[in-house]
Amino acid sequence: MTDTLVIYYSFTGNSKKVANYVKDKLNADILELEPQIPFSSDYDEVVAEWQNNDIKRDVEIKKVDKDLSKYKKIVLITCTWWYGISPVMKKFLKEYDLSNKDIIIASSNAGWLGHCFKDYETLLPNSNIKGELDLVFSSNEHERDKMLTSKSDIDNWIKKLN
Ligand SMILES: Cc1cc2nc3c(=O)[nH]c(=O)nc-3n(C[C@H](O)[C@H](O)[C@H](O)COP(=O)(O)O)c2cc1C
Repeated sequence: MTDTLVIYYSFTGNSKKVANYVKDKLNADILELEPQIPFSSDYDEVVAEWQNNDIKRDVEIKKVDKDLSKYKKIVLITCTWWYGISPVMKKFLKEYDLSNKDIIIASSNAGWLGHCFKDYETLLPNSNIKGELDLVFSSNEHERDKMLTSKSDIDNWIKKLN
C-alpha cells in the first residue's frame, strides 16, 4: 500500500499528463479534482470569466472519495489561472485538511506563474512544503500542450518528497 497521493486539477490536460507521469514514477495513488458544474468548453470564454481569480473566489467541487488520512506524502498539481492556482485547487485546499503532511507543489502555466506558490503556502499553513515546480508549457495557441519544462526537472522535483 502506498503512502503517496497525487492530487491534480487540469482544465486542458497538461497537468493531468504530468500527474499521471508522477503517479507512475512514485507508484502513488491518484485523485482528480473536478468542479461540481463543468466549466465552459470554450477556452476563451473561461479565460475571460476568470480574469478575477482572487484567492477568495472559488467554485464548488465534487466530493473527494479518498481517505486522505491514509497518505503521508502529497503531490499537488494544478493549472495556473490568471497568475494564481486554479479555483478548483483553491476550493479543495480550503475544504480538506492536509496538515502535517509532506507536500510538493506544481502549477502548470504558459510562462506567467504569478503568485501560485504563494497561494499554495497561504492555503497550506500547517503542511511541510518540500519542493515547488514551475511547470511550463507553450503559450503558442497552436501547441499549448507542448511541455517546455524538462523531464529531469520533474524527476528532481519528485525526489524532494523523499
Ligand atoms: C482561465 C485561464 C487562465 C490562465 N491564466 C494563465 C496565467 O495567468 N499564466 C499562465 O502562464 N498561463 C495561464 N493560462 C494557461 C494555462 O495555465 C496553461 O496552458 C496550463 O498548462 C494549462 O494546464 P491544464 O492543461 O492542466 O489545464 C490560463 C489558462 C486559462 C484557461
